Amino acid sequence: MARGLTFQLLETPYFGQGGSTTNAPELKLDRRTFLKSALAGSVTPAFPQLALAEASAGFLELNAVQGKANLYGDNGGASDLWLYNHQLPGPEIRVKQGDRVKVRFTNQLSEPTSVHWHGIRIENAMDGVTGLTQPAVQPGESFDYDFVAPDAGTYWYHAHNMSWNQVPRGLAGPLIVEDHEQHFSADTDIILMLSDWRLDDDGVLDTASFGAMHDFSHAGRLGNWLTVNGTSLPDIPLKKGHWHRLRLINTSSARILDIAPDRFGAKVIAVDGQSFNEARNMPGVMQLAPAQRIDLALRPTEAGTLPFEMMTGQPFTFANFQVAEAPANDRPLSLPPVNRLPEPDLEDALEIPLVMEGGAMGGMRSLLKERSEDEIRDMMQNGLFWTFNGVPGVQDEPMFNARRGETIVLESRNDTSFAHAMHVHGHHFRVLERNGKPLDHQDWRDTFTTAPREIVKIAFVADNPGKWLIHCHMLGHAASGMRTWFEVA
Ligand code: C2O
Ligand code: CU
Repeated sequence: MARGLTFQLLETPYFGQGGSTTNAPELKLDRRTFLKSALAGSVTPAFPQLALAEASAGFLELNAVQGKANLYGDNGGASDLWLYNHQLPGPEIRVKQGDRVKVRFTNQLSEPTSVHWHGIRIENAMDGVTGLTQPAVQPGESFDYDFVAPDAGTYWYHAHNMSWNQVPRGLAGPLIVEDHEQHFSADTDIILMLSDWRLDDDGVLDTASFGAMHDFSHAGRLGNWLTVNGTSLPDIPLKKGHWHRLRLINTSSARILDIAPDRFGAKVIAVDGQSFNEARNMPGVMQLAPAQRIDLALRPTEAGTLPFEMMTGQPFTFANFQVAEAPANDRPLSLPPVNRLPEPDLEDALEIPLVMEGGAMGGMRSLLKERSEDEIRDMMQNGLFWTFNGVPGVQDEPMFNARRGETIVLESRNDTSFAHAMHVHGHHFRVLERNGKPLDHQDWRDTFTTAPREIVKIAFVADNPGKWLIHCHMLGHAASGMRTWFEVA
Protein backbone atom coordinates (compact mmCIF):
# COMPACT_ATOMS: atom_id res chain seq x y z
CA MET A 1 0.00 0.00 0.00
CA ALA A 2 1.23 3.45 -0.83
CA ARG A 3 0.73 4.99 2.58
CA GLY A 4 1.48 8.62 3.27
CA LEU A 5 2.89 9.32 -0.14
CA THR A 6 3.08 12.84 -1.35
CA PHE A 7 3.37 13.59 -5.00
CA GLN A 8 4.35 16.70 -6.72
CA LEU A 9 2.89 15.80 -10.01
CA LEU A 10 0.05 18.22 -10.03
CA GLU A 11 0.93 20.22 -7.01
CA THR A 12 1.64 23.66 -8.31
CA PRO A 13 -1.33 25.95 -8.22
CA TYR A 14 -0.97 27.48 -11.62
CA PHE A 15 -3.37 28.26 -14.35
CA GLY A 16 -1.19 29.27 -17.24
CA GLN A 17 -2.00 32.65 -18.67
CA GLY A 18 -4.78 33.11 -16.14
CA GLY A 19 -2.45 33.19 -13.17
CA SER A 20 -5.33 32.54 -10.83
CA THR A 21 -5.10 30.66 -7.61
CA THR A 22 -6.35 27.14 -7.44
CA ASN A 23 -6.75 24.80 -4.57
CA ALA A 24 -4.04 22.20 -4.85
CA PRO A 25 -5.13 18.83 -3.54
CA GLU A 26 -3.71 18.19 -0.10
CA LEU A 27 -2.33 14.77 -0.90
CA LYS A 28 0.69 14.54 -3.05
CA LEU A 29 2.61 11.46 -3.94
CA ASP A 30 6.17 12.37 -4.62
CA ARG A 31 7.94 12.23 -7.90
CA ARG A 32 10.34 9.55 -6.74
CA THR A 33 7.52 7.23 -5.81
CA PHE A 34 5.75 8.09 -9.02
CA LEU A 35 8.77 7.12 -11.06
CA LYS A 36 9.36 3.98 -9.04
CA SER A 37 5.80 2.83 -9.37
CA ALA A 38 5.97 3.37 -13.05
CA LEU A 39 9.43 1.87 -13.49
CA ALA A 40 8.10 -1.09 -15.36
CA GLY A 41 7.21 1.37 -18.12
CA SER A 42 3.93 0.03 -19.29
CA VAL A 43 3.31 0.41 -22.98
CA THR A 44 0.14 2.32 -23.79
CA PRO A 45 -2.52 -0.20 -24.53
CA ALA A 46 -3.73 -0.03 -28.08
CA PHE A 47 -7.33 1.04 -28.08
CA PRO A 48 -9.75 -1.81 -28.48
CA GLN A 49 -12.25 -0.75 -31.11
CA LEU A 50 -15.87 -1.05 -30.41
CA ALA A 51 -17.06 -4.18 -32.14
CA LEU A 52 -20.39 -4.56 -33.83
CA ALA A 53 -22.45 -6.78 -31.64
CA GLU A 54 -24.27 -9.49 -33.51
CA ALA A 55 -27.93 -9.30 -34.32
CA SER A 56 -28.19 -5.69 -33.35
CA ALA A 57 -29.16 -4.11 -36.66
CA GLY A 58 -25.78 -2.48 -37.17
CA PHE A 59 -25.61 -0.98 -33.70
CA LEU A 60 -22.41 -0.88 -31.70
CA GLU A 61 -23.01 -1.97 -28.14
CA LEU A 62 -21.88 0.36 -25.43
CA ASN A 63 -22.57 -0.49 -21.81
CA ALA A 64 -21.95 1.61 -18.74
CA VAL A 65 -20.82 -0.76 -16.00
CA GLN A 66 -19.10 -0.80 -12.65
CA GLY A 67 -15.50 -1.92 -12.81
CA LYS A 68 -12.07 -1.65 -11.30
CA ALA A 69 -8.63 -0.53 -12.39
CA ASN A 70 -5.27 0.16 -10.78
CA LEU A 71 -4.76 3.82 -11.46
CA TYR A 72 -1.63 4.08 -9.35
CA GLY A 73 0.20 1.16 -10.92
CA ASP A 74 1.17 -1.85 -8.85
CA ASN A 75 1.73 0.21 -5.69
CA GLY A 76 -1.87 1.22 -5.36
CA GLY A 77 -5.07 -0.67 -4.81
CA ALA A 78 -7.84 -1.13 -7.32
CA SER A 79 -10.15 1.85 -7.70
CA ASP A 80 -13.89 1.51 -8.06
CA LEU A 81 -14.70 3.00 -11.43
CA TRP A 82 -17.58 3.36 -13.82
CA LEU A 83 -16.55 2.23 -17.27
CA TYR A 84 -17.80 1.76 -20.79
CA ASN A 85 -17.57 -1.92 -21.78
CA HIS A 86 -15.27 -2.59 -18.78
CA GLN A 87 -12.51 -0.53 -20.40
CA LEU A 88 -10.51 2.46 -19.28
CA PRO A 89 -10.82 4.66 -21.25
CA GLY A 90 -13.94 3.56 -23.08
CA PRO A 91 -13.49 1.74 -26.41
CA GLU A 92 -12.53 3.67 -29.50
CA ILE A 93 -15.37 4.43 -31.85
CA ARG A 94 -13.96 5.11 -35.31
CA VAL A 95 -16.10 6.00 -38.29
CA LYS A 96 -15.76 7.70 -41.65
CA GLN A 97 -16.90 11.25 -42.20
CA GLY A 98 -20.54 11.31 -43.26
CA ASP A 99 -21.23 7.85 -41.83
CA ARG A 100 -23.96 7.10 -39.37
CA VAL A 101 -22.83 6.34 -35.87
CA LYS A 102 -25.25 3.84 -34.38
CA VAL A 103 -24.74 2.99 -30.74
CA ARG A 104 -27.07 0.93 -28.58
CA PHE A 105 -26.27 2.23 -25.12
CA THR A 106 -27.26 0.26 -22.04
CA ASN A 107 -27.04 1.57 -18.52
CA GLN A 108 -25.88 -1.15 -16.12
CA LEU A 109 -25.07 1.33 -13.37
CA SER A 110 -27.30 2.00 -10.41
CA GLU A 111 -27.89 5.63 -11.32
CA PRO A 112 -29.32 7.30 -14.44
CA THR A 113 -26.90 8.39 -17.14
CA SER A 114 -26.65 9.35 -20.83
CA VAL A 115 -23.97 9.70 -23.51
CA HIS A 116 -22.91 12.99 -25.09
CA TRP A 117 -20.89 13.05 -28.33
CA HIS A 118 -18.62 15.96 -27.61
CA GLY A 119 -17.88 18.30 -30.50
CA ILE A 120 -20.09 16.57 -33.06
CA ARG A 121 -22.47 18.85 -34.94
CA ILE A 122 -25.19 16.44 -34.15
CA GLU A 123 -28.93 16.19 -34.49
CA ASN A 124 -30.34 17.72 -31.31
CA ALA A 125 -32.25 14.64 -30.14
CA MET A 126 -28.97 12.65 -30.09
CA ASP A 127 -26.95 15.20 -28.06
CA GLY A 128 -27.36 13.26 -24.83
CA VAL A 129 -28.16 16.15 -22.49
CA THR A 130 -30.53 14.84 -19.84
CA GLY A 131 -33.40 17.15 -19.05
CA LEU A 132 -32.88 19.12 -22.27
CA THR A 133 -32.61 16.75 -25.23
CA GLN A 134 -33.56 13.39 -23.70
CA PRO A 135 -34.67 11.84 -20.42
CA ALA A 136 -31.86 10.12 -18.51
CA VAL A 137 -31.35 6.45 -19.33
CA GLN A 138 -32.48 4.63 -16.19
CA PRO A 139 -30.60 1.69 -14.69
CA GLY A 140 -31.27 -1.39 -16.78
CA GLU A 141 -32.55 0.61 -19.73
CA SER A 142 -31.15 1.26 -23.19
CA PHE A 143 -31.14 4.15 -25.62
CA ASP A 144 -30.26 4.03 -29.31
CA TYR A 145 -28.01 6.84 -30.47
CA ASP A 146 -28.07 7.18 -34.23
CA PHE A 147 -26.51 10.20 -35.92
CA VAL A 148 -24.32 11.35 -38.79
CA ALA A 149 -20.77 12.51 -38.06
CA PRO A 150 -20.44 15.42 -40.50
CA ASP A 151 -16.85 16.50 -39.78
CA ALA A 152 -13.59 14.57 -39.68
CA GLY A 153 -11.44 14.89 -36.58
CA THR A 154 -10.76 13.93 -32.98
CA TYR A 155 -13.81 13.89 -30.74
CA TRP A 156 -14.87 12.05 -27.63
CA TYR A 157 -17.91 10.79 -25.81
CA HIS A 158 -18.74 10.99 -22.15
CA ALA A 159 -21.56 10.74 -19.63
CA HIS A 160 -23.81 13.79 -19.50
CA ASN A 161 -25.95 13.27 -16.43
CA MET A 162 -24.37 14.43 -13.20
CA SER A 163 -21.21 14.66 -15.27
CA TRP A 164 -19.21 15.95 -12.28
CA ASN A 165 -19.74 12.54 -10.67
CA GLN A 166 -19.71 10.26 -13.71
CA VAL A 167 -16.92 11.48 -15.97
CA PRO A 168 -14.19 11.50 -13.28
CA ARG A 169 -15.09 7.88 -12.44
CA GLY A 170 -14.13 6.83 -15.95
CA LEU A 171 -17.13 7.31 -18.25
CA ALA A 172 -15.31 8.70 -21.30
CA GLY A 173 -13.93 7.34 -24.57
CA PRO A 174 -12.55 8.53 -27.93
CA LEU A 175 -14.64 9.10 -31.05
CA ILE A 176 -12.55 9.39 -34.19
CA VAL A 177 -14.01 10.53 -37.49
CA GLU A 178 -11.76 9.82 -40.46
CA ASP A 179 -11.87 11.67 -43.75
CA HIS A 180 -11.82 9.67 -46.96
CA GLU A 181 -8.07 9.53 -47.45
CA GLN A 182 -5.51 7.80 -45.35
CA HIS A 183 -2.93 10.24 -44.02
CA PHE A 184 -1.34 8.08 -41.33
CA SER A 185 -1.01 4.33 -41.06
CA ALA A 186 -2.85 2.66 -38.21
CA ASP A 187 0.31 2.36 -36.08
CA THR A 188 1.20 6.03 -36.47
CA ASP A 189 -2.27 7.35 -35.63
CA ILE A 190 -2.19 7.47 -31.84
CA ILE A 191 -4.88 8.48 -29.37
CA LEU A 192 -3.70 9.82 -26.01
CA MET A 193 -6.48 10.38 -23.53
CA LEU A 194 -5.15 12.43 -20.65
CA SER A 195 -7.00 12.30 -17.35
CA ASP A 196 -6.24 13.54 -13.91
CA TRP A 197 -7.55 11.65 -10.92
CA ARG A 198 -7.78 12.42 -7.27
CA LEU A 199 -6.28 9.49 -5.42
CA ASP A 200 -6.29 8.99 -1.68
CA ASP A 201 -3.21 7.92 0.23
CA ASP A 202 -3.75 4.29 -0.70
CA GLY A 203 -3.42 5.31 -4.33
CA VAL A 204 -7.11 4.63 -4.85
CA LEU A 205 -9.73 6.94 -6.38
CA ASP A 206 -10.95 9.30 -3.68
CA THR A 207 -14.71 8.93 -3.94
CA ALA A 208 -15.54 10.58 -0.62
CA SER A 209 -14.71 14.01 -2.02
CA PHE A 210 -17.01 13.81 -5.04
CA GLY A 211 -19.28 16.82 -4.99
CA ALA A 212 -17.20 18.75 -2.44
CA MET A 213 -18.56 22.29 -2.35
CA HIS A 214 -15.05 23.60 -1.90
CA ASP A 215 -14.12 22.17 -5.29
CA PHE A 216 -17.28 23.47 -6.92
CA SER A 217 -16.69 27.01 -5.68
CA HIS A 218 -12.96 27.03 -6.44
CA ALA A 219 -11.05 25.53 -9.38
CA GLY A 220 -13.11 22.33 -9.61
CA ARG A 221 -12.12 18.78 -8.77
CA LEU A 222 -8.40 18.87 -9.42
CA GLY A 223 -6.69 15.52 -9.31
CA ASN A 224 -3.24 14.61 -8.06
CA TRP A 225 -2.46 11.85 -10.52
CA LEU A 226 -2.31 11.76 -14.28
CA THR A 227 -2.92 8.83 -16.57
CA VAL A 228 -2.53 8.43 -20.30
CA ASN A 229 -5.04 5.96 -21.74
CA GLY A 230 -5.65 4.79 -18.19
CA THR A 231 -1.97 4.10 -17.41
CA SER A 232 0.59 6.18 -15.55
CA LEU A 233 3.83 7.17 -17.26
CA PRO A 234 3.43 4.89 -20.29
CA ASP A 235 5.91 4.30 -23.05
CA ILE A 236 4.49 5.24 -26.42
CA PRO A 237 6.24 3.51 -29.33
CA LEU A 238 7.06 5.69 -32.34
CA LYS A 239 8.93 4.98 -35.57
CA LYS A 240 11.99 6.97 -36.49
CA GLY A 241 11.55 9.01 -39.65
CA HIS A 242 7.79 8.43 -39.93
CA TRP A 243 5.09 11.03 -39.48
CA HIS A 244 2.75 10.32 -36.58
CA ARG A 245 -0.52 11.87 -35.59
CA LEU A 246 -0.99 12.24 -31.85
CA ARG A 247 -4.56 12.92 -30.85
CA LEU A 248 -4.57 14.45 -27.37
CA ILE A 249 -7.87 14.50 -25.52
CA ASN A 250 -8.16 16.06 -22.06
CA THR A 251 -10.91 14.23 -20.19
CA SER A 252 -10.05 15.74 -16.79
CA SER A 253 -12.93 17.19 -14.85
CA ALA A 254 -11.17 20.47 -14.13
CA ARG A 255 -7.45 20.31 -14.87
CA ILE A 256 -6.03 22.52 -17.62
CA LEU A 257 -2.95 20.71 -18.95
CA ASP A 258 -0.11 22.90 -20.12
CA ILE A 259 1.90 21.25 -22.84
CA ALA A 260 4.78 22.34 -25.04
CA PRO A 261 4.71 20.35 -28.30
CA ASP A 262 7.70 22.24 -29.60
CA ARG A 263 9.92 20.72 -26.90
CA PHE A 264 9.73 17.35 -28.60
CA GLY A 265 9.55 18.68 -32.13
CA ALA A 266 5.82 18.30 -32.77
CA LYS A 267 3.67 20.63 -34.86
CA VAL A 268 0.03 21.37 -34.22
CA ILE A 269 -2.35 20.28 -37.00
CA ALA A 270 -5.81 20.56 -35.42
CA VAL A 271 -7.66 21.75 -32.35
CA ASP A 272 -11.03 20.46 -31.12
CA GLY A 273 -11.26 18.20 -34.15
CA GLN A 274 -10.82 20.93 -36.75
CA SER A 275 -7.75 20.68 -38.98
CA PHE A 276 -5.61 23.68 -39.77
CA ASN A 277 -4.75 24.36 -43.39
CA GLU A 278 -1.09 23.95 -42.54
CA ALA A 279 0.92 22.42 -39.73
CA ARG A 280 1.89 25.06 -37.19
CA ASN A 281 4.96 25.41 -35.05
CA MET A 282 3.76 26.59 -31.68
CA PRO A 283 6.65 27.62 -29.47
CA GLY A 284 5.91 27.95 -25.77
CA VAL A 285 3.12 26.53 -23.71
CA MET A 286 -0.33 25.60 -25.03
CA GLN A 287 -3.29 25.02 -22.83
CA LEU A 288 -5.28 21.84 -23.24
CA ALA A 289 -8.35 22.56 -21.15
CA PRO A 290 -10.91 19.99 -20.06
CA ALA A 291 -12.74 18.59 -23.12
CA GLN A 292 -10.33 20.19 -25.60
CA ARG A 293 -8.32 18.23 -28.13
CA ILE A 294 -5.02 19.03 -29.80
CA ASP A 295 -3.76 16.96 -32.73
CA LEU A 296 -0.01 16.95 -33.21
CA ALA A 297 2.15 15.82 -36.12
CA LEU A 298 5.54 14.44 -35.14
CA ARG A 299 8.36 12.88 -37.11
CA PRO A 300 11.12 11.81 -34.74
CA THR A 301 14.56 12.06 -36.31
CA GLU A 302 16.53 9.98 -33.79
CA ALA A 303 15.90 6.71 -32.07
CA GLY A 304 15.64 7.00 -28.28
CA THR A 305 13.39 8.51 -25.65
CA LEU A 306 11.47 11.75 -26.03
CA PRO A 307 9.77 12.86 -22.82
CA PHE A 308 6.24 14.27 -23.01
CA GLU A 309 6.10 16.82 -20.26
CA MET A 310 3.51 18.83 -18.50
CA MET A 311 4.63 22.40 -18.11
CA THR A 312 2.59 23.23 -15.03
CA GLY A 313 5.22 24.46 -12.57
CA GLN A 314 8.37 22.39 -13.09
CA PRO A 315 8.28 20.42 -16.35
CA PHE A 316 7.07 16.97 -15.40
CA THR A 317 7.28 13.91 -17.61
CA PHE A 318 4.00 12.04 -17.84
CA ALA A 319 4.72 9.81 -20.83
CA ASN A 320 7.78 8.79 -22.83
CA PHE A 321 7.84 8.43 -26.57
CA GLN A 322 10.14 5.50 -27.34
CA VAL A 323 11.43 6.03 -30.84
CA ALA A 324 12.58 2.83 -32.55
CA GLU A 325 14.57 2.39 -35.74
CA ALA A 326 12.25 1.78 -38.67
CA PRO A 327 12.63 1.25 -42.42
CA ALA A 328 13.27 4.58 -44.07
CA ASN A 329 10.15 6.45 -45.04
CA ASP A 330 10.12 9.67 -46.97
CA ARG A 331 6.40 10.08 -47.25
CA PRO A 332 5.77 13.77 -46.60
CA LEU A 333 3.30 14.98 -44.03
CA SER A 334 -0.19 14.68 -45.45
CA LEU A 335 -2.75 16.76 -43.61
CA PRO A 336 -6.39 15.91 -43.28
CA PRO A 337 -8.59 18.36 -45.20
CA VAL A 338 -10.23 21.30 -43.45
CA ASN A 339 -13.88 20.67 -42.60
CA ARG A 340 -16.37 22.95 -44.27
CA LEU A 341 -18.13 24.78 -41.46
CA PRO A 342 -20.57 27.64 -41.99
CA GLU A 343 -18.68 30.94 -41.95
CA PRO A 344 -20.06 33.55 -39.51
CA ASP A 345 -21.37 36.78 -41.05
CA LEU A 346 -20.05 39.36 -38.62
CA GLU A 347 -21.83 42.23 -40.37
CA ASP A 348 -25.20 40.81 -39.52
CA ALA A 349 -24.84 39.10 -36.17
CA LEU A 350 -26.85 38.77 -33.01
CA GLU A 351 -24.55 39.95 -30.21
CA ILE A 352 -24.92 38.18 -26.92
CA PRO A 353 -23.01 39.14 -23.78
CA LEU A 354 -22.04 36.35 -21.40
CA VAL A 355 -20.90 37.70 -18.06
CA MET A 356 -19.44 35.07 -15.76
CA GLU A 357 -19.63 35.82 -12.07
CA GLY A 358 -19.46 34.12 -8.70
CA GLY A 359 -17.18 31.56 -7.13
CA ALA A 360 -14.78 31.83 -4.24
CA MET A 361 -11.93 34.30 -3.89
CA GLY A 362 -14.15 37.37 -4.08
CA GLY A 363 -16.49 36.21 -6.84
CA MET A 364 -19.55 35.72 -4.66
CA ARG A 365 -19.21 39.26 -3.38
CA SER A 366 -19.62 40.65 -6.88
CA LEU A 367 -23.09 39.07 -6.95
CA LEU A 368 -24.19 41.58 -4.30
CA LYS A 369 -24.83 44.01 -7.14
CA GLU A 370 -27.90 42.04 -8.14
CA ARG A 371 -29.05 40.29 -5.00
CA SER A 372 -29.18 40.50 -1.23
CA GLU A 373 -26.89 38.64 1.12
CA ASP A 374 -29.78 36.36 2.05
CA GLU A 375 -30.37 35.48 -1.56
CA ILE A 376 -26.71 34.70 -2.01
CA ARG A 377 -26.73 32.53 1.09
CA ASP A 378 -29.74 30.65 -0.30
CA MET A 379 -27.99 30.14 -3.60
CA MET A 380 -24.95 28.71 -1.86
CA GLN A 381 -27.08 26.46 0.29
CA ASN A 382 -28.52 25.06 -2.92
CA GLY A 383 -25.02 24.34 -4.16
CA LEU A 384 -24.99 27.24 -6.63
CA PHE A 385 -21.90 29.43 -6.76
CA TRP A 386 -21.75 30.76 -10.31
CA THR A 387 -23.90 32.80 -12.66
CA PHE A 388 -24.08 33.63 -16.36
CA ASN A 389 -25.58 37.09 -16.86
CA GLY A 390 -26.66 37.02 -13.22
CA VAL A 391 -28.53 33.72 -13.50
CA PRO A 392 -27.35 30.45 -11.91
CA GLY A 393 -27.95 27.22 -13.81
CA VAL A 394 -30.41 26.14 -16.48
CA GLN A 395 -33.75 27.97 -16.42
CA ASP A 396 -36.98 27.24 -18.28
CA GLU A 397 -36.28 30.05 -20.72
CA PRO A 398 -33.22 29.98 -22.97
CA MET A 399 -30.53 32.61 -22.57
CA PHE A 400 -31.27 33.59 -26.16
CA ASN A 401 -33.17 32.46 -29.24
CA ALA A 402 -31.54 32.36 -32.63
CA ARG A 403 -33.07 32.18 -36.05
CA ARG A 404 -31.71 29.27 -38.02
CA GLY A 405 -28.70 30.45 -40.00
CA GLU A 406 -28.17 33.54 -37.87
CA THR A 407 -24.63 34.46 -36.81
CA ILE A 408 -24.14 34.69 -33.06
CA VAL A 409 -21.30 36.73 -31.62
CA LEU A 410 -20.84 35.79 -28.00
CA GLU A 411 -18.72 38.09 -25.88
CA SER A 412 -17.77 36.41 -22.64
CA ARG A 413 -16.41 38.38 -19.73
CA ASN A 414 -14.83 36.37 -16.95
CA ASP A 415 -15.50 38.36 -13.77
CA THR A 416 -14.44 35.47 -11.54
CA SER A 417 -11.10 34.59 -9.97
CA PHE A 418 -10.79 31.31 -11.88
CA ALA A 419 -10.16 30.06 -15.38
CA HIS A 420 -13.03 28.38 -17.23
CA ALA A 421 -13.36 26.12 -20.27
CA MET A 422 -16.55 27.07 -22.07
CA HIS A 423 -18.25 24.57 -24.34
CA VAL A 424 -21.02 25.27 -26.86
CA HIS A 425 -23.05 22.21 -27.84
CA GLY A 426 -23.94 21.36 -31.42
CA HIS A 427 -21.78 24.02 -33.08
CA HIS A 428 -18.16 24.97 -33.68
CA PHE A 429 -17.22 28.63 -33.37
CA ARG A 430 -14.32 30.82 -34.35
CA VAL A 431 -12.43 32.46 -31.51
CA LEU A 432 -12.19 36.04 -32.79
CA GLU A 433 -10.64 38.15 -30.05
CA ARG A 434 -9.14 38.11 -26.61
CA ASN A 435 -9.33 41.33 -24.61
CA GLY A 436 -10.27 43.26 -27.74
CA LYS A 437 -7.30 41.98 -29.70
CA PRO A 438 -8.09 40.00 -32.86
CA LEU A 439 -6.29 36.65 -32.87
CA ASP A 440 -3.78 35.80 -35.59
CA HIS A 441 -5.49 32.47 -36.06
CA GLN A 442 -9.21 32.57 -35.49
CA ASP A 443 -9.38 28.81 -35.12
CA TRP A 444 -12.54 26.76 -34.98
CA ARG A 445 -13.18 25.28 -31.56
CA ASP A 446 -15.96 23.77 -29.51
CA THR A 447 -14.44 24.70 -26.14
CA PHE A 448 -12.58 27.91 -25.32
CA THR A 449 -10.55 28.86 -22.29
CA THR A 450 -10.96 32.10 -20.47
CA ALA A 451 -8.67 33.45 -17.77
CA PRO A 452 -9.83 35.63 -14.88
CA ARG A 453 -10.80 39.14 -16.08
CA GLU A 454 -10.47 38.08 -19.69
CA ILE A 455 -12.92 39.04 -22.42
CA VAL A 456 -13.22 36.50 -25.23
CA LYS A 457 -15.27 36.97 -28.37
CA ILE A 458 -16.44 34.00 -30.42
CA ALA A 459 -18.72 33.70 -33.45
CA PHE A 460 -20.73 30.90 -35.00
CA VAL A 461 -23.65 30.30 -37.30
CA ALA A 462 -26.61 28.93 -35.37
CA ASP A 463 -27.57 26.51 -38.09
CA ASN A 464 -28.54 23.50 -36.03
CA PRO A 465 -32.13 23.54 -34.80
CA GLY A 466 -32.84 22.56 -31.23
CA LYS A 467 -31.90 23.25 -27.63
CA TRP A 468 -28.20 23.56 -26.99
CA LEU A 469 -26.23 23.88 -23.79
CA ILE A 470 -23.45 26.33 -23.14
CA HIS A 471 -21.49 25.41 -20.05
CA CYS A 472 -18.18 25.36 -18.34
CA HIS A 473 -16.47 22.00 -18.87
CA MET A 474 -14.99 22.19 -15.42
CA LEU A 475 -17.72 19.84 -14.41
CA GLY A 476 -18.16 21.04 -10.83
CA HIS A 477 -18.61 24.59 -12.14
CA ALA A 478 -21.28 23.40 -14.55
CA ALA A 479 -23.04 21.60 -11.69
CA SER A 480 -22.98 24.68 -9.49
CA GLY A 481 -24.36 27.27 -11.88
CA MET A 482 -22.21 27.58 -15.01
CA ARG A 483 -24.74 26.22 -17.47
CA THR A 484 -27.26 27.84 -19.71
CA TRP A 485 -28.87 27.06 -23.04
CA PHE A 486 -30.02 28.63 -26.26
CA GLU A 487 -32.54 27.62 -28.83
CA VAL A 488 -32.25 27.60 -32.59
CA ALA A 489 -35.64 27.74 -34.28
CU1 C2O B 1 -18.34 17.54 -23.22
CU2 C2O B 1 -21.86 19.36 -22.27
O1 C2O B 1 -20.10 18.42 -22.73
CU1 CU C 1 -15.61 27.00 -14.90
